[in-house]
Amino acid sequence: MKTQIISVDNLSTKAEGYTQAVSLLKAGETVAFPTETVYGLGADATNEEAVSKIFEAKGRPQDNPLIVHIGEKVEIEAFTMNIPQLAKDCMDAFWPGPLTLVLPLKPNTLAKNVSAGLDSVGVRMPEHPVALELLRRLKLPVAAPSANRSGKPSPTKAAHVFHDLNGKIPFIVDGGATGIGLESTVLDVTSKVPTILRPGGITKEMLEKVIGQVNESKPTDQAEAPRAPGMKYAHYAPNAPVYLIGNSKEAVQNAIEKIHKNLQKVAIIAREQFSNVEADYFFSLGKENQLEDAAHLLYEALRSCDETDADLVLVPVFSKEGVGTAIMNRLEKAANGNWFDK
Ligand code: TXA
Ligand code: MG
Repeated sequence: MKTQIISVDNLSTKAEGYTQAVSLLKAGETVAFPTETVYGLGADATNEEAVSKIFEAKGRPQDNPLIVHIGEKVEIEAFTMNIPQLAKDCMDAFWPGPLTLVLPLKPNTLAKNVSAGLDSVGVRMPEHPVALELLRRLKLPVAAPSANRSGKPSPTKAAHVFHDLNGKIPFIVDGGATGIGLESTVLDVTSKVPTILRPGGITKEMLEKVIGQVNESKPTDQAEAPRAPGMKYAHYAPNAPVYLIGNSKEAVQNAIEKIHKNLQKVAIIAREQFSNVEADYFFSLGKENQLEDAAHLLYEALRSCDETDADLVLVPVFSKEGVGTAIMNRLEKAANGNWFDK
């Protein structure tokens, strides 16, 4: 299969980009498109065969449900039911935006493989103008996970999608780099106390201002089966192993010396205050205290490590405050729990 990329930022190809994307989606094909978080790989959520093409292209485990994207809030009525008031309050406060709500699924509405057999469905209304335009032209709910090969960092540029899925999908709508750079916050509102299953750009503090107490599910809490099935798989990992390390220049410099003594090469992914350590490769996460920049740059930095011959990747940790919680959640997964020297 040939994978075509068309820019909708370019006036001369914009109309064609949307028309082709809509007709492919209507015909049961997959299309990658930008959202304000990361690029998604979409298919008609009411078409089981179309949705199965997403799992195939990504190499995604079948038990990992997909998020359904809508262009207008009223669309949720077609496939959800018994929506709690606090979910409605969240929609009013954060939609369109990077918040996925896990709601009770109305039986026999969406394709079965969208929700992986659960009686709930994750839904969000994205804020990106290209995603909204596409959804509003299509007028169908679109199931869309991140448009990467399963296990790899999510794509924040059309080129990342092409790298991972070239030859596996027919079409990429190129709308430039995404904004936030980390996937949406997933909030389960079917439990007694709403629970964050995956942290993201909409933080616990922001949610609690609107709906009161919110719990956080700890992915490390083995006693409880992971509620967001996707969180149990290895994720966001470059080819070389990732190690977390304390947020100290001295610790990083000592680690580099140790690694070099073993005749190995090391890539550092860190904020600019680390830029003058003697690593073989350095990928910046922006200025200290600019957490939004770090979120925006993280996945591209992880991908860039695959273009080097580094034997390992070191990442100084962030404090788990605000968006730092989401950044550390992704880093802990990328590192699969590995700490340097621990
Ligand atoms: O920002 C985003 O959310 C991006 C863009 C494309 O919208 N999408 C995305 O999708 O990150 P994906 O499939 O990579 O992640 C979906 C996450 C997984 O961890 C999945 O297990 C969880 O949401 N999820 C989806 N439906 C669920 C449900 N009914 N119950 C619990 N978790 C659910
Ligand atoms: Mg994903």
